[in-house]
Amino acid sequence: MPAILCLPQPDDPAPRGFTVQVPVAGESNVDAVVDLYSDRLRCDHPNVDDGRALGRALTHQAVRESCGRVVVLVHEELAAGLRAAGYEQEATMPGFYSGDGDCAVMGLALDDSRSLSADAAALQKVERLLRDAPPERSRPLIETERAIVGDGEAIAQLITETFDHYPTPSGVSAYIEQHIEDGTPFRLVREGDKVIACASADLVPEARTAELTDCATSPEHRGRGLMQAILADLVGDLEDLGYPTAFTLARAQVPGVNLAFQRLGFELRGRMAQSCRIGTGLEDMNVWSRRLAQEAS
Ligand SMILES: CC(C)(COP(=O)(O)OP(=O)(O)OC[C@H]1O[C@@H](n2cnc3c(N)ncnc32)[C@H](O)[C@@H]1OP(=O)(O)O)[C@@H](O)C(=O)NCCC(=O)NCCS
Repeated sequence: MPAILCLPQPDDPAPRGFTVQVPVAGESNVDAVVDLYSDRLRCDHPNVDDGRALGRALTHQAVRESCGRVVVLVHEELAAGLRAAGYEQEATMPGFYSGDGDCAVMGLALDDSRSLSADAAALQKVERLLRDAPPERSRPLIETERAIVGDGEAIAQLITETFDHYPTPSGVSAYIEQHIEDGTPFRLVREGDKVIACASADLVPEARTAELTDCATSPEHRGRGLMQAILADLVGDLEDLGYPTAFTLARAQVPGVNLAFQRLGFELRGRMAQSCRIGTGLEDMNVWSRRLAQEAS
């Protein structure tokens, strides 16, 4: 799920949210997004020292905006203060900040139902699969392509066909084209003139990390190893950029995507219950991350 864009965007059917400035006692204001689409308040990497004051301020704002949930991504040092303000540490991504500082994923359910798993039975099946860790089938090498701006429409179409709900406007070709033009790595597999699988690495340049996202394979081509090939090549793109880590927020109830990340050396860092509107509705998201290979200097 790439950074939330404040909408409306051209042609996007769903208004998704807006940014608010939240006053934090004794600190400067922080930006947070009232994410209407996923009914939550989200605040990424606020520049404050007092986690408890931050937590209280975000809770106050979320109540005011009638959000069902709060999500905060912060330096680990702020986690204790946020816990004291009632937040739960849902995941920790080591080395997230430029390979050094860990990132704590903190959550607070204001609507009690948002603290429960969306589909506990499906989660158990995925957990069993990850525990069994079936080895990857051996296959001939799958070639993936780095997308160019002209691929925006076909990628947007695949996203639209794949997801009933999606948290960003990735089904809008202008949005994808803009991201490719801005340097976001997208990779795809094509059959004839049709894009049959795609994913992207949404860069967070200030932290020198990236979120692997927009993972979609056409139903008739699933289970052929296309997504594993695309993700492996995107990891290579990030290593070429010298990025020390990568992460993903993966739908916790979808077996293939979680297995693919586990096989690529990502580690499961935690889970965000009913965090994001995607696929079937509000779903749990698994937090995976890994360190990337870096050339010795
Ligand atoms: C998730 C998704 C992208 C995977 O794409 P894919 O191209 O089929 O993935 P791959 O074939 O590379 O890898 C999936 C692996 O999981 C396995 N797998 C998939 N579903 C499985 C299941 N229910 N039980 C056991 N293994 C399963 C596949 O067999 C494959 O393993 P293999 O290499 O040993 O055959 C595709 O299913 C999809 O588009 N789903 C809908 C969109 C979505 O939920 N995207 C993820 C958003 S976070």
